[in-house]
Amino acid sequence: MLSTLAATAVLFSAASLVNAQTFTDCNPTEKTCPADPGYGLGNTVFTDFTKGASDNWEIAAGTTLSYGTSGAEFNIKVSTDAPTISSDKYIMFGQVDVFLKASPGTGIVSSFILESDDLDEIDWEWLGSTDTSVESNFFGKGNTTTYDRAIYHNVETPIETWHNYSLTWTAAYTKWYIDGVLQRTLNYGDALALGGKNYPQTPMRIKMGSWIGCASAAAAASSATQGTCEWAGGPATFDGTTYTMLVANVTINDFGCGGNYTYTDLTGDWQSIKSSGTCSSSNADSDSSSTASSSVSKSSGAAVLAQTATGNASGSTLSTATATGSTTKTTGSTSTTSGAAQVTTSDGNAKAKSKYGVIDVAVMALGLGLGYLVM
Ligand SMILES: *[C@@H]1O[C@H](CO)[C@@H](O)[C@H](O)[C@H]1NC(C)=O
Ligand SMILES: *[C@@H]1O[C@H](CO)[C@@H](O)[C@H](O)[C@H]1NC(C)=O
Ligand SMILES: *[C@@H]1O[C@H](CO)[C@@H](O)[C@H](O)[C@H]1NC(C)=O
Ligand SMILES: *[C@@H]1O[C@H](CO)[C@@H](O)[C@H](O)[C@H]1NC(C)=O
Ligand SMILES: *[C@@H]1O[C@H](CO)[C@@H](O)[C@H](O)[C@H]1NC(C)=O
Repeated sequence: MLSTLAATAVLFSAASLVNAQTFTDCNPTEKTCPADPGYGLGNTVFTDFTKGASDNWEIAAGTTLSYGTSGAEFNIKVSTDAPTISSDKYIMFGQVDVFLKASPGTGIVSSFILESDDLDEIDWEWLGSTDTSVESNFFGKGNTTTYDRAIYHNVETPIETWHNYSLTWTAAYTKWYIDGVLQRTLNYGDALALGGKNYPQTPMRIKMGSWIGCASAAAAASSATQGTCEWAGGPATFDGTTYTMLVANVTINDFGCGGNYTYTDLTGDWQSIKSSGTCSSSNADSDSSSTASSSVSKSSGAAVLAQTATGNASGSTLSTATATGSTTKTTGSTSTTSGAAQVTTSDGNAKAKSKYGVIDVAVMALGLGLGYLVM
């Protein structure tokens, strides 16, 4: 069903691509951006939304969340709703788990993404028009030249059933899991990531919310939004119904050391990011199927994410640098603080690649949305 819709949407996508659908206050690959004090998480934080609002999250202008026994409720009732929240801190590689129930409703899209200031992005997205799958996707440095990176994964009734959607993101690979089962692996050097160039690799915030992928029959007919409407399954119906995405809890584990994650140049390469944080705990990719390791070495105040990655379509190698300063942090589960790691590729899932148009510009204009690089 979804694949059929997706295939159809491709026909309209060429005319529907619009630039700048994702926004950033300051893009560090275009100019030097001001430091944001203490903006790296540097540890693990758990948010239980069944207990109500949390200081770990910034609520977007125009968003009002309600909280119930199921957790945070992201409600859409009228065509201007786009409830959105963002983590207040960034992570520089890490693991993020969310227990979520997608919003129902044709035309409604639920999103849980990681996004950086230079528009690297790692996504989960659910369409209210289907109750059988979730989409994984990624973007590098805001490159929307093509929309061929989406993959749909079967999942049982994501609208009615809690599932644990998890991302493990390192310099070497990104893995998408559902309920502990690996769905997809993207390696740094994969062709789809342009050999690393468009691999997501800069400090990310977690953003989630629901939004209207197709607001009206007029949007479905407009060349600018036709592709997105096809993707979203058609126009949403606003008849007083409240469409709700539910989030019970989120675990965020920053593999980095926190402090300020600073872009030291305009490359947007992970090697250029420095952390000023002090490592206080050992965070790890607990995925036992890989032995990736990375370390953060500190030298005179500024910690450098001293990893090197080599692009390799069948696996990426991380070698750690020698710590010259105070402490060294290991982020590998089964390896020691130094040495190389091999990462294997595994992705046995059915793929439905497609390309689409983009988010309704109205959502962006309202400044409410996540500004997702849709699809
Ligand atoms: C982050 O940068 C700001 C501004 O440069 C500085 O005042 C602050 O101390 C830094 N914070 C950390 C944790 O390094
Ligand atoms: C953007 O992606 C396209 C398709 O993957 C690629 O051909 C192009 O070189 C990329 N552009 C940049 C600036 O990386
Ligand atoms: C969610 O899935 C991730 C990835 O498999 C796992 O590490 C984590 O422990 C799971 N969370 C719970 C609460 O089961
Ligand atoms: C997170 O939410 C899910 C779904 O309600 C629940 O099964 C799980 O126990 C929760 N995790 C924690 C640690 O509370
Ligand atoms: C690429 O990765 C594979 C599997 O990890 C490894 O066997 C191979 O030597 C690597 N190739 C290069 C050029 O690094």
